[in-house]
Amino acid sequence: MEQPGTPDFDYYPCDHKINHVEYTSHALTLIWSDQRTSQYHACWLADNDAGSAVTNTLTREREIDFVDMPGDIGIQQASVSDDGTLNIAWTADWPESRFLPGWLRAHDYSNDPMPDDGLRQATTWNINDLTEPPTTDGTEILRDDDVLEAWLDNLAQYGLARLANVAPDDGMVADVVRRIGPIRPTNFGFTYDVKTKANPDSNAYTDMALDSHTDLATREYQPGLQFLHCLKNSTTGGAGTMVDGFKVAEDIRVENPGVFEILSTWDWTFTNRARETDYRWVTPLIILDRDGQLSELRMTAFLRGPLAMPFDRTEKAYAAYHYLVEKIREPQYRLRFDYRPGDLVAYDNRRILHGREAFSSGEGERWLQGCYSERDELRSRLRILARNRRAAIIGTK
Ligand code: OGA
Ligand code: ZN
Repeated sequence: MEQPGTPDFDYYPCDHKINHVEYTSHALTLIWSDQRTSQYHACWLADNDAGSAVTNTLTREREIDFVDMPGDIGIQQASVSDDGTLNIAWTADWPESRFLPGWLRAHDYSNDPMPDDGLRQATTWNINDLTEPPTTDGTEILRDDDVLEAWLDNLAQYGLARLANVAPDDGMVADVVRRIGPIRPTNFGFTYDVKTKANPDSNAYTDMALDSHTDLATREYQPGLQFLHCLKNSTTGGAGTMVDGFKVAEDIRVENPGVFEILSTWDWTFTNRARETDYRWVTPLIILDRDGQLSELRMTAFLRGPLAMPFDRTEKAYAAYHYLVEKIREPQYRLRFDYRPGDLVAYDNRRILHGREAFSSGEGERWLQGCYSERDELRSRLRILARNRRAAIIGTK
């Protein structure tokens, strides 16, 4: 018999067999060949059945919601067939279900800690940990998935990853970013040229220094990823700087919890100044997720709008802001590097604060091409690259 499907397009190579099944009408326990035990509820199994009664076999999306199944659905009988598949007959009038062991194991929710999805956790850093952006040779970035994955692994882990030797061609940055996923366009276009301009609509398009910042803090949703590709650089000055905002925030949290509380709860205003657009957003400077973990920093001095806060908070807010900026400016956090034509630097714009030193626009030319995308695209691409490796394992079995 054909192997059961799964409610997705993934592959589940599995070195372990189900040795033993125990069940009641509402729950089921599997004992695997490596002695691991997994438990699942009848409602969960019925809800995640990849068979055609529940899941659309073309789209692999759920077609019948759990609330539309028989209310009294329970396990009548569970057994493992010769090919290792788990078969379940239901107490209600409902077709039998079949489950692939590798899928069951990958989605076992009864183990602690919950199985992760294979993505790297953030490793925070200062210049004792990194003296150069983690770098991969990018000569083959448009063709070679191993190069892509090595680069993206670093980006997911350190929030910063550089490709060297990417052909310094106009538009190349867009081709490289599309290897990950869609580009996020902004009022600056799909890509934008970072060079001195006669009529600049951003400080970035002058030769002045840019303090450590995140881009587009004026938007409800700051771009998750930013890319800068160096096409030309024959000026003096203009070194790039990168600070791991998560590292700075972690340190402030330990050293000065009162300041951290203000930075992560009191709202500031960011406004873009432009003739044709008027983006604004009101937000704390450090944003935490529901578990209190760092999720994002918002930090762009040149786009801060007038602070609008209750009178008795304003001086405290400025003092906390001062503390944050002084901390960000500590040399221990600032990774400094030169842009060579062909360098393509990628960073998590919601975590890493980027900047540059001033350069002399009177001599030579400095031309970076920039582009934005999202953390979602990075995570999705890494999952697909890992999926492709699993498919290769299945193909060789
Ligand atoms: C930018 C920026 C840095 C640089 O374009 O957002 O910060 O090195 N540029 O020019
Ligand atoms: Zn910037």
